Amino acid sequence: MKITGTGSALPEKVVTNDMLAGFLDTSDSWITSRTGIRTRHLLSTETLTDLALKAANAAIASSGVQPEDIDYLICSNVANSYVSPSLGSILLAPLGLCCPTFDLNGACAGLVYSLDIADSFLKTGRAKNILIVAAEEPSRFCNWHERETSVLFGDGAAALVVTEGEGFKDFLLTADTHTEVLYYKRSLEETPYDRLDEKTEPLVMNGREVFRLAVTSCIDDIDKILEKNNMSGHDIDLYLLHQANFRIIESIRQHLEQPREKFPTNMQNYGNTSSASIGILIDELSRTGQLKDGATLLLSAFGGGFVTGAAILKWSQINY
Ligand code: COA
Repeated sequence: MKITGTGSALPEKVVTNDMLAGFLDTSDSWITSRTGIRTRHLLSTETLTDLALKAANAAIASSGVQPEDIDYLICSNVANSYVSPSLGSILLAPLGLCCPTFDLNGACAGLVYSLDIADSFLKTGRAKNILIVAAEEPSRFCNWHERETSVLFGDGAAALVVTEGEGFKDFLLTADTHTEVLYYKRSLEETPYDRLDEKTEPLVMNGREVFRLAVTSCIDDIDKILEKNNMSGHDIDLYLLHQANFRIIESIRQHLEQPREKFPTNMQNYGNTSSASIGILIDELSRTGQLKDGATLLLSAFGGGFVTGAAILKWSQINY
């Protein structure tokens, strides 16, 4: 499988750390030094569907594939205002697609999970051209009176078109049983037989524990996937890691003893956009010529659950 088209979209509204300090007991220096995040884009006038469509149309246009030739749509999304239909179903008609679709909730690792599934669909001949859309609005899960979580996230969407070709070399997915460190609960309707005792609860996060799990599990995944492919950290040209916190990326980089230039980041501009983060990074680097033809990339992501995913691929240049 190889990536033949990329796209991304962000909300217009840019929110700085100083703007947050206007209503939260926080500061630009605390957020910047603990996370690396300086601004984030938050949905205000647009919807998540608008972002997803913009990213998807850009990815389709850059791939050169016609919408009618896309035969599967995988949509990575943790939650949006619809439980049903899926976000993928909502996107089909405006994109001019007529193909099977489903939403996948792999938390912040959802894009790597989607790529792994797309790879197996291509290998079994189930599809030829697959559109993957990762669209997330994590800002809607947070309690905006709580400084521990709300400063971390941003909204955004990314899309990739994948097709048969020489690109992805290997995947490694994991799932652990740490559901208590990061969760967001929605309430269901009451029935005559089951009253609702619990209310909807905004995102709950044990930040220190998530930090620890993120670093240890990503290092474990990266070490394992490199070893499995008889590679060392030096064989990777760029590490595209989930953009949650600069310090998490730094800890992983120091373990791998690799130079900082190999770890591009954009969380300083967008915050943590959940499963969209690596896709947005790929789109930006590719469009600005920073992904060289033949470069070896390593993707690694982690998220609530606790799930993680890593992949190694050789990049083929896309002409925009
Ligand atoms: N502004 C100012 N102070 C804040 C704050 C904020 N936004 N958020 C927390 N604090 C305070 C805490 O209340 C605590 O105060 P105390 O010492 O008086 O109790 C202090 O800062 C230190 O808190 P701590 O939790 O130890 O900070 P930290 O260095 O671990 O950084 C996170 C906190 C959340 C930035 C960090 O743990 C993290 O990034 N974790 C991973 C989160 C993540 O990636 N989640 C998404 C996963 S997909």
